[in-house]
Amino acid sequence: MPPGGPPWSSVEKPQNLWATMRALLRYVGKYRMHILAGVLLSLLSSAALLLAPRFLASMTNGIADGIASGSVDLGPITSAGMVLVALYLLNLAFTSLENYIVPCASERSGHAMRKDLASKMFRIPLRILDRMNTGDVMSRFTNDTDTIRTQLAECICHAVTAITMMVGSVLMMLIANPSLTVVSVVPVLLGFALMIAMIKSSQKYFSEQSRGLGRMNGLVEELYYGMDVVTTYNDQGRAMERFSEINESLYRSAFRTRFVSSLMPRMMDFLSNLGYVIVCVFGSAMIIEGRLDFGTLVAFIVYVRQFTDPILRLSDTLATMQSVAASAERVFGFLGAEEMDDESGKTARIDKVEGRVSFEHVRFSYSEGVPVIQDLSLDVLPGQKVAIVGPTGAGKSTIVNILLRFYEIDSGRITIDGTDISEMSREELRRLFCVVPQEAWTFGASVRENISMGDPEVTDERIREVCEAIGADSFIETMDEGYDTVLDESVQLSIGQRQLLMIARAMARDAPLLILDEATSSVDTNLEKRVEAAMRRLMSDKASFIIAHRLSTIKDADCILVVRDGSIVEKGTFGGLLEAKGFFKTLYDSQFEGCDRRR
Ligand SMILES: Nc1ncnc2c1ncn2[C@@H]1O[C@H](COP(=O)(O)OP(=O)(O)O)[C@@H](O)[C@H]1O
Ligand SMILES: [Mg+2]
Repeated sequence: MPPGGPPWSSVEKPQNLWATMRALLRYVGKYRMHILAGVLLSLLSSAALLLAPRFLASMTNGIADGIASGSVDLGPITSAGMVLVALYLLNLAFTSLENYIVPCASERSGHAMRKDLASKMFRIPLRILDRMNTGDVMSRFTNDTDTIRTQLAECICHAVTAITMMVGSVLMMLIANPSLTVVSVVPVLLGFALMIAMIKSSQKYFSEQSRGLGRMNGLVEELYYGMDVVTTYNDQGRAMERFSEINESLYRSAFRTRFVSSLMPRMMDFLSNLGYVIVCVFGSAMIIEGRLDFGTLVAFIVYVRQFTDPILRLSDTLATMQSVAASAERVFGFLGAEEMDDESGKTARIDKVEGRVSFEHVRFSYSEGVPVIQDLSLDVLPGQKVAIVGPTGAGKSTIVNILLRFYEIDSGRITIDGTDISEMSREELRRLFCVVPQEAWTFGASVRENISMGDPEVTDERIREVCEAIGADSFIETMDEGYDTVLDESVQLSIGQRQLLMIARAMARDAPLLILDEATSSVDTNLEKRVEAAMRRLMSDKASFIIAHRLSTIKDADCILVVRDGSIVEKGTFGGLLEAKGFFKTLYDSQFEGCDRRR
């Protein structure tokens, strides 16, 4: 049962059920035929079941007539029995075939959908992805595709079966005896309407329950990640109070929803049994009056069950269909998200990079109307080491983001060796850089693969050489399987160790331009010096952008750019900037407050 209660109380409703179901059928494309076959088989298997009671009736009449006349003619009874067995066998065959064809279509469409989602992710610009909620995107990949995969074709076939059985059994009853049909079907329908009204009025408990679950998830996540803070401040008591309040209300709503949901099948049983009683009482009266034969009464008993059983299944199926449509809307929402421009026509490339990078009056904003980079112009000469410094939030990482075209600039131009980077494909552009990003990121593969990133040119020797140079080998060697250790959740690395891996990854790759975004902010000063020396040795020929937090580490930069509120406010060498006694001097002094500045 889903957390929101039983399926028919599901609070998640699609915007447009039928339009989405049609879109979904268009999406599954070639597997539509499988679903159609499933529908056809459902119809055939229902038809077999609907015909069966007629032969049951003639068998019963044969027996009843025989008992009345004193001699039973077994011939017609046996042949009716054989037809019955044949009908039940056909039903078995049709449903088995349906159960083979339909899941096959579902699984293949689920497979295709997951693939489409994954490839779509790489085509959505970061500008759009930033605004999406991680948990939400993840649930589209997992929960939503799962709902569609497991339910789409099945719920269509089940709905067809249920409707055919309901309509078909009423039709068969009408053909056999219209007045008995009315007296047995109408009370059941009335009872069912009453039950729906009851469920509707209890809907609020179901919504309360799913809201409660959402709040509880949020709180548990918050407490789990903030456990150290909560316990440091001895705030467990207040946290438990908040938890207890939610838990209490969850208990109350869960209890009520559980009671209401268990009521539905029981009431359906009651209605179906009531149907029997009505059929038996009215039927017997009609037999006595000579308006009904005994066999038809027996057939009616079966038809009443065939009519009431699918009601519950149909309401379940409709609810499932709604959740499939809601999931499909979310999946289609992602698949329909804006994409990055097609770059197949961009052919500009730089074969031999000298490393002259220029920004010309660049303006950029993450969200419209809030410029982060105001009017940035700068020139970096080949082989120069350029440092970018400035307070947190000044826009340093943003400069990297637009240089690598993770985001597109609003106006101005960025060129490398005179070529406008917007004329190159993103792939071609990024080939020119080794980057150590501010956020260290490793993935669940071996240390070796985390460093080589699948580049065949990064050999094992190169990896070892780089790791030794920056002093990362010592901690890698101590891991269980050295360079083959898989960095999964069982491996706990410190932020500094992760940064070293990022640096190794960037250095192992032989690209002409280098970007370091606060790459050594979490390694100790001794190791930082060693990393720097190694970088200087391995990358002497590369033009580099170094965003540094500790100003002491950029003393030998060829040029220091001081960024403040998205503009370069000062520019010069370390000594020159200190002498100018401007913003850089203020930054520098604030870092060394209370320390011996002559060091
Ligand atoms: N992905 C983003 N979406 C919206 N705003 C962002 C994003 N990344 C950074 N910003 C904002 O842009 C400004 C500059 O950020 P950033 O370049 O990361 O600063 P820093 O100099 O610390 O590296 C900040 O005000 C930050 O809040
Ligand atoms: Mg930053």
